[in-house]
Amino acid sequence: MSSEAHAVIESLPEAAMIVSVNGTVAGSNRTASRLLGRRATGHSLFEHAEGDPEDFIAFLQLCLGSTSPLVGALSLRTVNGVKHLQCRGNRMSLAVGPAVLLRFPLSDKDPFGALTQQVKELNVEIAKRKHVEAVLLESLRERDVLMRELQHRVKNNMQMLAGMLSGAAREATTPEAGAALRDAATRFSAVSSVQQLLYGSDTLETVSSESFVQGLVRAASSLTKDELEIATRIDPVQLPIEPAIPIALILNELLVNAIKHGRSAEKKQRIAIAFLVNGNQVRLEVHDNGPGFGDSTITRRASGLGLVRALLRQLGGRLDLEIENGARCVATFPLPRRKGS
Ligand SMILES: Nc1ncnc2c1ncn2[C@@H]1O[C@H](COP(=O)(O)OP(=O)(O)OP(=O)(O)O)[C@@H](O)[C@H]1O
Ligand SMILES: [Mg+2]
Repeated sequence: MSSEAHAVIESLPEAAMIVSVNGTVAGSNRTASRLLGRRATGHSLFEHAEGDPEDFIAFLQLCLGSTSPLVGALSLRTVNGVKHLQCRGNRMSLAVGPAVLLRFPLSDKDPFGALTQQVKELNVEIAKRKHVEAVLLESLRERDVLMRELQHRVKNNMQMLAGMLSGAAREATTPEAGAALRDAATRFSAVSSVQQLLYGSDTLETVSSESFVQGLVRAASSLTKDELEIATRIDPVQLPIEPAIPIALILNELLVNAIKHGRSAEKKQRIAIAFLVNGNQVRLEVHDNGPGFGDSTITRRASGLGLVRALLRQLGGRLDLEIENGARCVATFPLPRRKGS
């Protein structure tokens, strides 16, 4: 047998032999010698085997026709007694002619045993993680339910306070006191309308600009019994809940002012609201078709416009008052974004 063929079988970890068609062992590696307890080369394979040699010769014939290994079995007399071993055989070309390379797997244990064990351990780990995930999801759902419940109660309490203020306004002994109490009531209902949107929203963290503006318009327009037409133009964005409250108060004040001061006897009252987003800037406009700001318009710190200016300062924005077929109040401020986005 060539030294190359010998090097090939010697490099294999399992017992390996090169067997000629009649069963003579042309070469074997050290592992094979250890398995049999003596050198097999030069002897007939059937000196080491039990059972019917004809069967095995038929297997060798089959292997001669195949370059990829075929699986067979052979009972070998090993140092540890007779062992029924699985073997793999395939054709190998030697200088002297074709022969069969026979290999005996290292052990008759399940070669996938370690892998099967690992798969089992992984399955246990996956089951554990799935359980943890389910527990976490459940507690998140619980937190969600509790948050909604809390928002719901806060909103109810605010509505109750708004109701108490409206009641007090009706019973106020002076018109000034009545008006002040009414304004306080509308401020409460503006905040509570945002609160209402919050517990109705999917995320609990943001409100959409559309539902936000429409909710405030509904709350404020319920203040007047006079005929009033309100048009809105809203760019859709998600507003984080924290800045949504001051923005709600700003829009509420401008809207209440437009309803209160922007009425002229001859025309039907019309108010146009725009919530426009341009890049990082929001332009919030309330435009009425009333008499416009008079020369005597003064902004008291404690008044509605005073509050609007203070809130806009907090948001990093400003307020412009313009006259164009009525009063136009323009609040500009940076678009608030969710933390981390
Ligand atoms: N849309 C408007 N049209 C005409 N005048 C307005 C308009 N908005 C405000 N003004 C004038 O500006 C003044 C200041 O408004 P501001 O909201 O600060 O106070 P107020 O509405 O009088 O009182 P408060 O808001 O505290 O109830 C008003 O009194 C009013 O004269
Ligand atoms: Mg006002």
